[in-house]
Amino acid sequence: MQTKIAPSILSADFSVMGETIKKLEKCGADLIHCDVMDGSFVEPITFGGQMIKNIRPLTKLPLDAHLMIEHPKTQIKFFAEAGADIITVHYKACAKISDTYLKETLELIKSCGVKCGAVVNPDVPVEKIFEVFPLCDMVLLMSVYPGYGGQKFIPEVLEKVKKAREYAIKIGKPDMDIEIDGGVTEENCAQIRAAGANVLVAGSTVFKSNDMAKTIANLKK
Ligand code: DX5
Ligand code: ZN
Repeated sequence: MQTKIAPSILSADFSVMGETIKKLEKCGADLIHCDVMDGSFVEPITFGGQMIKNIRPLTKLPLDAHLMIEHPKTQIKFFAEAGADIITVHYKACAKISDTYLKETLELIKSCGVKCGAVVNPDVPVEKIFEVFPLCDMVLLMSVYPGYGGQKFIPEVLEKVKKAREYAIKIGKPDMDIEIDGGVTEENCAQIRAAGANVLVAGSTVFKSNDMAKTIANLKK
């Protein structure tokens, strides 16, 4: 499977976001990963649908909205209308509301004509989201606890990636996107890909690089 790189704009300079988006596209990014934080599900606050709306006309790349927010269902229409191509929501944020909230939220995303995905934190077994795999275009396995860029990769997630790929194959979706988010570097990307992930989010690795194009190419190799 071809590896796709999703630079996370959490690590970008927000004062020059437009230029950054164009540069990422030129440098070979495959998706733009947009980290939406609400100050409650995670400590920091980043941005909402307005950011998606403003960067939408600047690139042809898919916008990957990673919602680290409480009550995600209430926000879906704003991100869909703003132009997100895929919206992912956290199992933990949904499970604390009800057993069916994750499924309902994913169905709502689909009904807006947007791709959907479920996210699990490092301490949540991937089996918890197996029942929504048939609905998901992508699953996102966090390899750090969400909230901040620049953290260290948690290697135990690799076992979960393998299980996720095996289960996707078992249910007849061998090409389902499996995304890894947090602590991805040029050093660990080969083992992440070997475990079965095909979408790699990279924040600090891309933005700290003085040759973005080369770094993105190395992450794909
Ligand atoms: C963390 C975010 C990540 C973050 C990754 O909560 O979801 O997308 O930006 O940053 P790095 O690649 O620096 O770990
Ligand atoms: Zn993210």
